[in-house]
Amino acid sequence: MLATTERGGALREGIWAHGDRLATVAVALAQRLKLSAGFVELLRFAAPLHDIGKAAVPAEVLLKRAPLTAEEIALVRTHVHEGARMLAGSGARLCTAREVALTHHERWDGTGYPCGLRGEEIPLVGRIVAVADVFDALVSERPYKPAWPIDAARAEIVRGSGSQFDPKVVEAFLDLPGCRGLGRRAASEPARWLRD
Ligand SMILES: [Fe+2]
Repeated sequence: MLATTERGGALREGIWAHGDRLATVAVALAQRLKLSAGFVELLRFAAPLHDIGKAAVPAEVLLKRAPLTAEEIALVRTHVHEGARMLAGSGARLCTAREVALTHHERWDGTGYPCGLRGEEIPLVGRIVAVADVFDALVSERPYKPAWPIDAARAEIVRGSGSQFDPKVVEAFLDLPGCRGLGRRAASEPARWLRD
């Protein structure tokens, strides 16, 4: 029981740390895309909350090392609606956070979830967070995988351009300072990577 509680605590900390790192990358992408200061500030607030709905998914599913069953995958996917529900309210910041929570797993080619939105039907905040989310997930250690080297994660983002990701957001990603000179870098901490 204690072990389960400790693992649950570590999981929550991991989700928050992921949110913080992801927000750093998302904000850098928005600035690279020359979006307004107001947009950037809304994104800075909303991005760390993208996975808040995972609080409603059992920790043993989120921490499982083995491949998930179809039922477990469906359970994990409920986090987007749970997040939107938790972020219900008025005001631009909450509305943006709800939009991000709901759309960050949509895909540019229309095969994402929960609605199968396609291309620019997906709100821009969701398209930006999608790239930042996958990048941070790849370079981070997870229960089911080791941390990937940054150049391998970069290649995976490029591979998803036009299918999973908005090509313009991927272009902005490749323009970030940390993406230049890859091959000479081994850092696996995106915030530091971004500042270098
Ligand atoms: Fe998510």
